[in-house]
Amino acid sequence: MNAPAEAAGKVLVVGGGQGIGAAIAADLGERAVVWTRRQGIDATDPDSLRRAFADFERAHGAPYALVHSVGDFHEAPLLQTDAATYRAQFASNVDSVFHCLQAVVPSMVAARRGRVILFAAAGANRHRAMLRAPVYFAAKAAVIQLAISLAGEVAAAGLTVNVIAPGLIAHPDSHRESQDRLLPRVPAGRLGTPADVLGTVRYLLGPDADYVTGQVLTVDGGLQM
Ligand SMILES: NC(=O)c1ccc[n+]([C@@H]2O[C@H](COP(=O)([O-])OP(=O)(O)OC[C@H]3O[C@@H](n4cnc5c(N)ncnc54)[C@H](OP(=O)(O)O)[C@@H]3O)[C@@H](O)[C@H]2O)c1
Repeated sequence: MNAPAEAAGKVLVVGGGQGIGAAIAADLGERAVVWTRRQGIDATDPDSLRRAFADFERAHGAPYALVHSVGDFHEAPLLQTDAATYRAQFASNVDSVFHCLQAVVPSMVAARRGRVILFAAAGANRHRAMLRAPVYFAAKAAVIQLAISLAGEVAAAGLTVNVIAPGLIAHPDSHRESQDRLLPRVPAGRLGTPADVLGTVRYLLGPDADYVTGQVLTVDGGLQM
C-alpha cells in the first residue's frame, strides 16, 4: 500500500487471521499488527484486550488505525435461534467492537489522529426484514449505530470512523453453501473476494478520505440495491 508520510503508525487488524482481515493485513504488510484468538487475544474479553493493547502501545505507540474484522455469521430464523446462539452472535459482532473501541480509541484520541474501520454486512443499515439471519443483521445494525455515534464523538480529535458493509465475500473459511444459494441474486453475477474489499479499505485509510466519517460503504456487487 502507498502510505502517505503523514499516516505513519501501525494498523491494528483485529480478526486479521483469515478471510477479509487476513487480506487487509497482507495488503498492509509490515504496517499491520494482527490480533486473533489463535494468538491468545479474545476481542470479546476486555481484560485480554487491555493486556494486548498495553503491549502494543509499549512497542508501537498510538496506532494509526484500528480495523475490526471479527464477526461470526449464523444463519437461522429468529424463532429458531436459541438464547445461547443469540448471545454468541452479539458477543462476536457487537461486544467485540465495543471492547476494542474502548481499549484502543482513547490512545488515538490522545494522539489526535487516526482511522477506525468496522465491518457490518450489506443491508444492515436498511431497516428491513433480513429473514436469512435476523440476529446477525440486528447485531450488524448495532455496529453501524456505534460507529456513527463514535464518529461524532471523536471527529473534533481528528479521527474518522467508518463502516464497510460487505455482501457475499467468498474465501476458504466463508459460509459457501449459503453464499452459493444467494449468488443468483447478485447483479454483478459473481461472489466477491477479499480483494474486492481492499480498495475501500485503502481509501478509508488514505488521505482522500480525510473528510469522510460516519459512513457505511457497501461492497456487494449490487446485492442490496
Ligand atoms: N465473508 C463475508 O461474506 C462477509 C459478509 C458480510 C459481512 N462480513 C463481515 O466482515 C468481517 C470479516 O469477515 P470474514 O468472513 O473475513 O470473517 P472470518 O472468516 O470469520 O474471520 C474472522 C477473523 O476474526 C478472528 N476472530 C474471531 N473471533 C474472535 C475473537 N473473539 N477475538 C479475536 N479474534 C477473533 C478469527 O480468528 P480466530 O478464530 O483465530 O480468533 C478470524 O481471523 C466480519 O465482521 C463479518 O461479519 C463478512
